Amino acid sequence: MGYRVAVAGATGAVGREMLQTLAERNFPADKVIALASSRSAGREVSYGEDDVLTIGSLDKFDFADADIALFSAGGDTAKEVAPKAGAAGCIVIDNSSAFRMDDDVPLIVPEVNADTVERALPANGGRNIIANPNCSTAQLVVALKPLHDKFGVRRVVVSTYQATSGAGKAAMDELFNQTRGIYVNDPVQPELFTKQIAFNAIPHIDKFLDDGFTKEEWKMTAETKKILDPAIELVAHCVRIPVFIGHSEAVFIETEKPMTEKAVRNLLRESDGITVIDHRADEGYVTPHEAAGEDAVFISRIRKDPTIENGMVFWCVSDNLRKGAALNSVQIAELVAERGLYGR
Ligand code: A2P
Repeated sequence: MGYRVAVAGATGAVGREMLQTLAERNFPADKVIALASSRSAGREVSYGEDDVLTIGSLDKFDFADADIALFSAGGDTAKEVAPKAGAAGCIVIDNSSAFRMDDDVPLIVPEVNADTVERALPANGGRNIIANPNCSTAQLVVALKPLHDKFGVRRVVVSTYQATSGAGKAAMDELFNQTRGIYVNDPVQPELFTKQIAFNAIPHIDKFLDDGFTKEEWKMTAETKKILDPAIELVAHCVRIPVFIGHSEAVFIETEKPMTEKAVRNLLRESDGITVIDHRADEGYVTPHEAAGEDAVFISRIRKDPTIENGMVFWCVSDNLRKGAALNSVQIAELVAERGLYGR
């Protein structure tokens, strides 16, 4: 029996990508249902190359009519709707931060901790809710997992260069409109971003916390610990840059065991979800522009950190709408389907 799959937030940057990814990967769906706010009800969205779906209103949808729901409709909506959907027996895979740190909600990157999926089921103490991590965390833990298994990652320092699509479709529009406006001398009026995003870099994603870090930076630490290993120490500095799609990260790791550049390169090369492009030449590394539309986490610029005993530095780039959001959610849905799990 196939699954009835709903996508909540189907008009958004991630929601559209979820529909695209479900179609591209031939997810075993008997039925796909597109949902958004009542403002969008009746409009159409594409599903794959040929199909078009009519959008339904999320607040009127009965989740007894779906087996799996991919949510990308924001944290507030998720908090209100996902528990009800779960209680109706639908397995919710939520892209917001609403449930990520809840003990009864598995936080999953399939290459790293696929086996936690069954904890989502009520029979195992779950609420039929599975969380998808923050986009910057998802690509990072894919890279860290094989390194941790082999060399024991003790500490990570990471600086991010994050695309505007991570903040949704309206944020991409803000970059586009500001960029165009600057060429014709229009005054810049930040709306979603705190400062001008066009031709700029903003070291402020999500709100400030008491210790001076931002919530985005905190999420990278807390989520890496939950997904990979609570013993890993991680400090992050997150920056929004004027790129539409593709998050980049400069990653500095310190490990228990010694490692060589060659061993790291070979290990990452054979690891799930990773493509290594690493030549010391003009074309020998990947930029976000090239990662957009791709599924892989790309690793480049692997080099030894000469300032500590067991240290390595690398550059990690991925399409934040795919591995950071839609693809990871669909991979979780595939795990649910492969294991034949149902929430009711
Ligand atoms: P809509 O387009 O109808 O507002 P993004 O992350 O790109 O900003 O997209 C957010 C998605 O979440 C959109 O599909 C948006 O639908 C949907 N959404 C936002 N608020 C609600 C809500 N209260 N109920 C249902 N869907 C919502």
